Amino acid sequence: MNPTKVLITGGAGFIGSHIVERCLQQGWETVVVDNLSKGDFDNIPIGARFYHADVRSYEMEAILAKERPDVIVHQAAQTDVQYSINEPMEDASVNILSTVNLLKLAVKYEVRKFVYASSAAIYGMPEAVPINEEHPKHPMSGYGVSKYVPELYIRTYSKLYGMEYAILRYANVYGPRQASDGEGGVVAIFVDRLLRGERLVIYGDGEQTRDFIFVEDIADANIAAIYAEENVIANVGTAYPLSVNELVTSLQDCCGMKSRVEYRTARAGDIKHSVLDNQEAIRMLDWAPKVCLEEGLWKTYRYRLSKITQEHELKSALS
Ligand SMILES: NC(=O)c1ccc[n+]([C@@H]2O[C@H](COP(=O)([O-])OP(=O)(O)OC[C@H]3O[C@@H](n4cnc5c(N)ncnc54)[C@H](O)[C@@H]3O)[C@@H](O)[C@H]2O)c1
Repeated sequence: MNPTKVLITGGAGFIGSHIVERCLQQGWETVVVDNLSKGDFDNIPIGARFYHADVRSYEMEAILAKERPDVIVHQAAQTDVQYSINEPMEDASVNILSTVNLLKLAVKYEVRKFVYASSAAIYGMPEAVPINEEHPKHPMSGYGVSKYVPELYIRTYSKLYGMEYAILRYANVYGPRQASDGEGGVVAIFVDRLLRGERLVIYGDGEQTRDFIFVEDIADANIAAIYAEENVIANVGTAYPLSVNELVTSLQDCCGMKSRVEYRTARAGDIKHSVLDNQEAIRMLDWAPKVCLEEGLWKTYRYRLSKITQEHELKSALS
């Protein structure tokens, strides 16, 4: 569908802010809802209308009633795996109840399509790689569960009320504006540490592989999902397994800097190899990842360099 107005939750966050940018480029009226628990007001692109609200709150009803978007793109979430293990109630509350609240309001205010940010975490320990969409769902953390349950609600709401949907299961996303904590933040953490001349810590032998996808490719997949004529459930990744050791080498080449690498004992439950099969996204969304690793790392490095430089300048101006 080609909407007039799109509402993006978590639009002040890392991935959400890039989707906002793309929606504005499409000429769509773009509304952002974020409680700024993790996101930053400065991330919200100029041109979007911003509501500072919790997606679980009663305020959402007034926002939906006023804005009447055609599409909701739901990115807001608690994304920290360790936090989900320590604080499962809060994790479930943010990730599951927010979706239920939005779905209920989406039906009431005749939203036509619901686009949801799911995660590779729903699959748990891969039985085979690359992981396709039919792979059993055996999450290994509260986060994996709380990202999967909303998928079931979305499909149920679609059956009950005929709402269109797209469920996109992201691999490890990296790029500008990523915080150096939370899910998949390893690239942001390593770039920061390289720039500060600190050592890079790797758990295990570094031969574990992951599917690192650049954030602009994720934003493009969301736009394609909005346009899609059919309901979609698709992995969004590169389908390319990159080892953590290879990532470090590419990063050091890209930044022209080297840091000492410290190997520590692998953490219990760490997944050895994880890569997503992206054929369904290619077929259903007419999409493919465009940004190669070198370009993505370079853009991430430039962004973090300018952030750190700004912080230094601010500190010295204040001292
Ligand atoms: N980053 C990754 O590698 C990755 C991988 C798989 C899936 N995802 C999913 O993608 C989505 C975006 O992740 P991200 O990496 O951009 O995280 P992020 O933390 O940068 O963005 C999430 C945003 O949601 C906001 N938010 C959190 N709780 C809220 C609430 N209750 N009400 C309103 N706003 C709230 C935060 O302030 C933040 O701006 C999430 O749903 C996440 O589960 C991310």
